Amino acid sequence: MRLLIFGASGRTGQVLRSMAEQAGHEVLAPTHAEFPLEQAEQLSELVLGCGAEMVVNCAAISGLEACAADPLQAHLVNAVAPAAMALACRHTGARFVHLSTDYVLCGRKAGLKDESARCRPISWYGESKREGELQVLEALPTAVVARVSWVCGNPAKPSFIESTVARALAGQPLAAVADKTSLPTDAADIARVALALGAGEFSGVVHVTSSGEPLSWWQCASLALQAAAEQGALPAVPPVEQQKLDEVPFFKEPRPRHTAMENSRLTVQLGIPMPPVQETVSRVVRRYLETVSAG
Ligand SMILES: NC(=O)c1ccc[n+]([C@@H]2O[C@H](COP(=O)([O-])OP(=O)(O)OC[C@H]3O[C@@H](n4cnc5c(N)ncnc54)[C@H](OP(=O)(O)O)[C@@H]3O)[C@@H](O)[C@H]2O)c1
Repeated sequence: MRLLIFGASGRTGQVLRSMAEQAGHEVLAPTHAEFPLEQAEQLSELVLGCGAEMVVNCAAISGLEACAADPLQAHLVNAVAPAAMALACRHTGARFVHLSTDYVLCGRKAGLKDESARCRPISWYGESKREGELQVLEALPTAVVARVSWVCGNPAKPSFIESTVARALAGQPLAAVADKTSLPTDAADIARVALALGAGEFSGVVHVTSSGEPLSWWQCASLALQAAAEQGALPAVPPVEQQKLDEVPFFKEPRPRHTAMENSRLTVQLGIPMPPVQETVSRVVRRYLETVSAG
């Protein structure tokens, strides 16, 4: 199948590209420089003319502070561009899978949220991604909006999990936020699910994340260190200081506190399995350690 991937240089896009190529798909992966997403007309022409049967959008401005620094650009890249892709797919008949985020959720109440949960983003990033979800589904009702969270598992683009293990290996002090919860998603799972959803008939919003109960970053860090110790990389599990979300100096923008997603639409209704969160963390740590030891 001919597959067009936007954002193929990103944390998720890199993994999707390599999985799709290994599966024998012909992959088209326009770079940021070739096709800046701010230029929606150029994007439409690409989708209309390239003959792709499936389009997956992994591109986004995903930094909260970056979106707040330029909300108009965030809107163009995270909402207008995906809508242009969706509309072009409507003309060509290509399947369209668009990645979104748990940060579209309001996050006030603790607990798992399914796809019917209220969306009330509290940041420019969340706002632009929610607008993208709505515009994509309006332009192409058969599109898939796959919400992911805490993307990890690409050693070339380390996430919080890999960075925690790296700090521990270097003997540095560790601290993690204990009053904010979600669930991690391995980029390899996102890639597998995106290809499956793109090949299927599901349309609408679906939560794509590990199975399990919500974890704080502090709990997630503790699981990662435990896995690193079990896998022989650390002599013992080092202590991790608990931080409060409001005390992290780098976070200028508000983060929703409780956005862990419930994934049974994916796993039960669509029959696409997702690993328990402990397995995700253990697997991501193993992959990172293998990459580090391979130099
Ligand atoms: N990372 C997370 O923890 C997380 C959590 C929840 C949801 N998500 C969502 O998951 C998806 C993938 O996230 P990710 O973390 O894999 O993304 P990422 O690593 O930040 O990569 C973003 C990709 O988008 C491209 N891009 C950014 N601005 C662009 C522009 N103006 N024009 C063209 N391309 C542009 C980047 O290219 P360059 O690198 O060349 O600029 C890169 O390939 C996104 O929809 C994101 O909102 C991510």
